[in-house]
Amino acid sequence: MQKRSQKTNSLTSLILDVKNEALAQIMDAKKADELENLRIAYLGRNGKLTKLIKEIKDLPAEDKKQAGRLINEAKNTVLETISSQKNTFKEAAREWFDATIPGEKPNVGHLHLVTQAIEEISDTFKKIGFVRVRYPEVEWDWFAFESLNIPKGHPARDDWETFFIDTPPNSKYGRVCLTPHTSSGQVREMERVKNPPIRMINIAKCYRRQLDVSHTQMFHQFEGLVVDKGISIIHLKGTLDYFARNFFGKDRKTRLRPHHFQFTEPSFEVDISCGVCKGKGCKLCKEGWLELGGSGMVHPTVLKNGGIDPNKYTGFAFGWGVERTFMMKSGLEMGDIRLLYGTDLKFLTQF
Ligand code: FA5
Repeated sequence: MQKRSQKTNSLTSLILDVKNEALAQIMDAKKADELENLRIAYLGRNGKLTKLIKEIKDLPAEDKKQAGRLINEAKNTVLETISSQKNTFKEAAREWFDATIPGEKPNVGHLHLVTQAIEEISDTFKKIGFVRVRYPEVEWDWFAFESLNIPKGHPARDDWETFFIDTPPNSKYGRVCLTPHTSSGQVREMERVKNPPIRMINIAKCYRRQLDVSHTQMFHQFEGLVVDKGISIIHLKGTLDYFARNFFGKDRKTRLRPHHFQFTEPSFEVDISCGVCKGKGCKLCKEGWLELGGSGMVHPTVLKNGGIDPNKYTGFAFGWGVERTFMMKSGLEMGDIRLLYGTDLKFLTQF
C-alpha cells in the first residue's frame, strides 16, 4: 500500500470531519431557508468544503487525485442530502392543511331560464297526453304559409316579417325561410300521424325581422295541435284552463277574444287573468287580463292540406311565445325581453 504524507492524512480527515459536520447540521435544519444557508456555508464561494479544495494543490502529486475524489464525493453527498431534506419539507407542507379555512365555492351553472320554461311547458302538456315534437327551423314556404291558407302576396304574411333564404325555390314547396312560427309544424304533424288522433306540442325556435323591447329576431314558440272526431271549442277552452292552472297557478283563468288568423276559423286571442290583481285590474295588466297568444279551430283547408278529411275530423290549435309566457309566470316586469338573450350574469343567475 502506498504511504500517504502527513499533509494528505490531515486533509483527508478534515474533509471527512467537515462533511459529517455539514450532514449533522442539515439533518437538524427545520426550514428550507436554513438549508440554503448551510449550502452557502459549506459549498459557497467561501464555504468550508470549497476552501479545502484549494488545499489540494499543496499535496504531493500522487495524493492529489484521491483527495480530489474524496472532496467531490463529500460535496455531492452534502448537496444530495440538502435536496432530499428540501423535498421532505415540501411534502410535509403539502400534507398539512387547515380544515377550518372555509372552502372555495365553485361556480355551479344551471339551465338557461328559457330552457327551464320549455321543459316545464313540455311536462305540463305531456301529463294530458300531448306528444313533444320538433320540426325544421329552416322551412319551406309551403309548411310555413301556403299550407296554412296564407297564399303568396296575402297581406297577412306581413305580420310574420320572415327571413327568406336566397336559394332557388322548390317547384312543390316554394322558397326556403327561417320558420317564423311553430304553426309550420301543423301540416307536417298531420302528414306524420296520417290517421288522427293527433295531440302534438311543438316547441321550437322561430325567427322574424323584429327587434325591440318586446321582440327578438330569434325567440321560441310552443304550438299545440289536437285533431280528432268531435273536437270543439270546449276542448280548446278546457285545455287552456288546464294549462293556466298548472303552469301559472290554481286561481288563474283564461278567456278567449275573437281574432283573425288565416289558418284557424274561428280564431281567438287567449288572455290569462292577471296574477297580481287576480283579474280586478292593476298597473301591470290595466284591465285584469294579460295577452298570452293566438288560438282557434283548425281551418278545413289546413286539414285538407295535411291529408285529413275535414268532414270527419275537427281540431284546435294554439301558439304562444315561450319567453312572454315565462315572463308572465314569474311576474317579471322585465322592461326588455332582450335581457333573456344577453350575457349579464347578474340577471341570469337569479333564476
Ligand atoms: C302566431 O305566430 C300564430 N302562429 C299563433 C297561432 C297558432 C294562432 C295556432 C292560432 C293557432 P303571433 O304572430 O301572434 O301568432 O305570435 C304568437 C306569439 O309569439 C306572440 O303572442 C308572442 O308571445 C310571440 N312572439 C311573436 N313574435 C315575437 C318576437 N319577435 N319576439 C318574441 N316573441 C314573439
